[in-house]
Amino acid sequence: MKIRTYEEAYRLSIEDPGSFWREAARDIDWFEFPASILDEDSNGTIRWFRGGKLNTAWLALDRHVQAGRGDATALIYDSPVTGQILSWSFAELTERVSRVAGGLGDLGVSKGDRVIVYMPMIPEAVIAMLACARIGAVHSVVFGGFAAPELAVRIDDANPKVVLSASCGIEFQTVIPYKPLLDEAIDLATSKPAHTVIVQRPQHEAPLIEGRDLDWDAWEASSEPAHWVEVDAWDPLYILYTSGTTGRPKGVVRDNGGHAVALNYSMDTIYGCDAGDVYWAASDVGWVVGHSYIVYGPLIKGCTTVLYEGKPVRTPDAGAIWRVIAEHGVKTFFVAPTAFRAVKKEDPDATLKRRYDISCLEYLFVAGERLDPPTYEWLKATVHTPVIDHWWQTETGWSICASMVGVADADARQTRSGSPGFPVPGYDLRVLDDNGNELGPDEEGNVVVKAPLPPGTLSTIWGDHQRYVEAYGSRYPGFYLTGDGGYRDADGYVYIMGRVDDVMNVAGHRLSTGELEEVVAAHPAVAECAVVGIADEDKGQVPLGLMLLKDGVNADPAELESELVQMVRRRVGAFANFKRALVVPRLPKTRSGKILRQVIRKIADGQPYEPPSTIDDPTILEEIQTALRERRPPP
Ligand code: COA
Ligand code: AMP
Repeated sequence: MKIRTYEEAYRLSIEDPGSFWREAARDIDWFEFPASILDEDSNGTIRWFRGGKLNTAWLALDRHVQAGRGDATALIYDSPVTGQILSWSFAELTERVSRVAGGLGDLGVSKGDRVIVYMPMIPEAVIAMLACARIGAVHSVVFGGFAAPELAVRIDDANPKVVLSASCGIEFQTVIPYKPLLDEAIDLATSKPAHTVIVQRPQHEAPLIEGRDLDWDAWEASSEPAHWVEVDAWDPLYILYTSGTTGRPKGVVRDNGGHAVALNYSMDTIYGCDAGDVYWAASDVGWVVGHSYIVYGPLIKGCTTVLYEGKPVRTPDAGAIWRVIAEHGVKTFFVAPTAFRAVKKEDPDATLKRRYDISCLEYLFVAGERLDPPTYEWLKATVHTPVIDHWWQTETGWSICASMVGVADADARQTRSGSPGFPVPGYDLRVLDDNGNELGPDEEGNVVVKAPLPPGTLSTIWGDHQRYVEAYGSRYPGFYLTGDGGYRDADGYVYIMGRVDDVMNVAGHRLSTGELEEVVAAHPAVAECAVVGIADEDKGQVPLGLMLLKDGVNADPAELESELVQMVRRRVGAFANFKRALVVPRLPKTRSGKILRQVIRKIADGQPYEPPSTIDDPTILEEIQTALRERRPPP
């Protein structure tokens, strides 16, 4: 694609999206180039690249082998928790992926069938995803930190033929057996996968159920390599569940064609990476960042990708990030700010960085939550590269706003503290007030994107297109509702200030208040509850539960709190960081009965708030304030 200035690329993408994305589509290889670039279904659904035929795994692997780059390194697995560093070339990875694809075929999986992947950060997770893509099966990766009931909900929604998993994960020094969680989830689910295939890790081998469970190594070794399957651009590549505003997760569906074009476009224009460069996204394959930038983006572009099974700290120390960058020659690094807050806490002067030569690093990107100004300043003082905050969501699959490094005038736009930069080509971003009027500079409101969303963004919600329309398109018809609040300054820099709905962001992990409220409300002593995400220095936000006890219940608040903490760990997962639950006499509500979570959040964060005119009884807010003032430190 022609290298343009940012202004030129952005303008063309908005004024003539068909031409812009046709040009971008030419940068990937199709079995059949799309007959049309952008058109609409009879029900008004936008379709990108109709008639295009491709295969995403072939794009990510085989085509590099065919182009003579088979010996180039595709995947580096760096695992301080097991002491291993391994790598695979494009040819080697193609061979493994083809065999696993063949193995899936032997288990009856074919195009359009779903496969759930519930795995820690091991190479088989990447191989599993690509193997599904190779045969046109739809993968749904479930983050390994989710507890059994959450996995069960996803199994029921996706109805997979097979689940691919591992015997255990390793968090710092703790071995976490996965198989009992998987067995429990399958027991809980109504939909029963015919088979599971388990990577047996030496740290903890799991007993297998005869007839249902297979040992991954034996299965892979005995499978014949499978050929790729041609799919339509619009065919689903994966489903990724994310937290909505209710307790029921939303299965974001990603197509093959738009996804490949958008990620390929993003790799050089946003991240400055081309074939042969080393790209490291320190996320987890269970999240969208892992899908787009551990697996698909770098491999489609022909880059080397790093899969890191470790933490920024204590595996073994706060120098881990610098070590991985130096050891593998990372050019572009992408991480959540919370990771650097953890490093900063343990090594405030970044003394451990001096042990490593990180001159290979050219760009440092952060996303997943707001890059708070203190962490931005610390990073600016610590690394020699630009520090680039960029904003995106599971739904979009790639960034909505960024400071792009691969445009002709990249140096012309400096990053600004607190801002993820400018809208990326394809995203016609607006800020609207509650009545749908467009706001001017520095006026905060609802951040939306005027339709059509660019390629690579969600095509629907799995099994529930109506929910997709209602969740994203009904608040402001013709605009995609991001759920984030923010503003633009007079120079056009965008600022994303946080969710305006009931979604919270805990250590870069997205959670819904509804998900946690369902668990808290299930406690026999609790009559009613509200969960809000409150500010936390390390994690960005942490959940806080407020609950009303049933009449006549005289529970000890500390005991109740610890029971609830355990319940959330067992039902949702420890990563939710639910550690605090307070008993309150009443909950603030509107006269129509809606709990005022935003007001509770502001009170807890010590921010100014206006009691809404619809509040039932404003004196309740004082009671909440008192309860929060008297709260004990978290356990
Ligand atoms: N499997 C099982 N348990 C997990 C898990 C997983 N994959 N991930 C986290 N947990 C557990 C942790 O072990 C911890 O358990 P504990 O309460 O028993 O100690 C708990 O969940 C809390 O985890 P977390 O909040 O992640 O804290 P941490 O101390 O384990 O790690 C960070 C801190 C900063 C390293 C980590 O939060 C992180 O890397 N966050 C970035 C997330 C991210 O990449 N998001 C994607 C957007 S870019
Ligand atoms: P997820 O879907 O898990 O990627 O979470 C998406 C949400 O994380 C967004 O809606 C934002 O609320 C938040 N988020 C992600 N990146 C940023 C960023 N760079 N700045 C501010 N918020 C962000």
